[in-house]
Amino acid sequence: MTGTNIRVWVDGELVEPEGPAVSALDHAVTVGDAVFETAKIVEGAPFALTRHHRRLLHSASGLGLPVPDLALVDKGVAAVLEGDPIAFGRLRYSVSGGVGPIGSDRGEASLTTIVLAAPQPRPPASGRLTVVPWTRNERSAVVGLKTTSYAENVVALARAKQEGAVEAVFGNTRGELCECTGSNVFVVVDGVVLTPPAESGLLLGITRELTIEWARAAGVAVREETLPLDVLQSADEVFITSSTKDVLPIHAVDDRTMPADRPVTSELLRIFRSNAERDSDP
Ligand SMILES: Cc1ncc(COP(=O)(O)O)c(C=O)c1O
Repeated sequence: MTGTNIRVWVDGELVEPEGPAVSALDHAVTVGDAVFETAKIVEGAPFALTRHHRRLLHSASGLGLPVPDLALVDKGVAAVLEGDPIAFGRLRYSVSGGVGPIGSDRGEASLTTIVLAAPQPRPPASGRLTVVPWTRNERSAVVGLKTTSYAENVVALARAKQEGAVEAVFGNTRGELCECTGSNVFVVVDGVVLTPPAESGLLLGITRELTIEWARAAGVAVREETLPLDVLQSADEVFITSSTKDVLPIHAVDDRTMPADRPVTSELLRIFRSNAERDSDP
């Protein structure tokens, strides 16, 4: 990927996308000691920024980082969104522990704040999932936090892409359905929408939260329930949710082709879109 279309802002300044901007001693670089958010950009504006900010604070507190300066993040967001509006894209902002010791212990340095914006293709109409043999650890010290220690997701997504899938699904250490590398997962069984609970070790996605809230408001029941990983082999419908994918129908899980008729997913997609169009910061 080249950085040509990426706008980058670091600690108060727009910088060259591929130029040096962060210290080699930054704790994000040395040990992945940072938290981040990814929000969708639609017609130049970020979607659900208030919820993303709230989750950033939660992640920072969980890592034991000082409280991120959201006013500073907002300056960065305004700077990268200025100019030609990005029709569809990704806003990513990270706050790291700053320059620190070379190992895992933390220094006293001030936080580093990085904001990026880039156009990206809109999601496909549907996709395939691959179940990977690796696990999410529901007892991890960083469970539920959006940290930049994402190497496991990099490996799993590469496997998914190799197999022509859009996402990789993880079970947890108990063999329960958990989540994907950057998306949450839902199934429909006998007309009921089910999704794993926080205790399965997932990241509480903002799209997951909105999908549940808006479905319930429209009279569609959704239950957060512990599910076996192999529910993916019998569910009537499967879909995933993420900030840049919204509600994405799944047409195949590994070798299983899903039924082409997806009435519940289609309804939830319609509900999601109509609510999102009405309010860009729900
Ligand atoms: C591990 C993980 N799970 C789920 C999600 C989906 O969250 P959201 O809907 O807030 O994008 C993400 C987001 O990238 C993620 O990184």
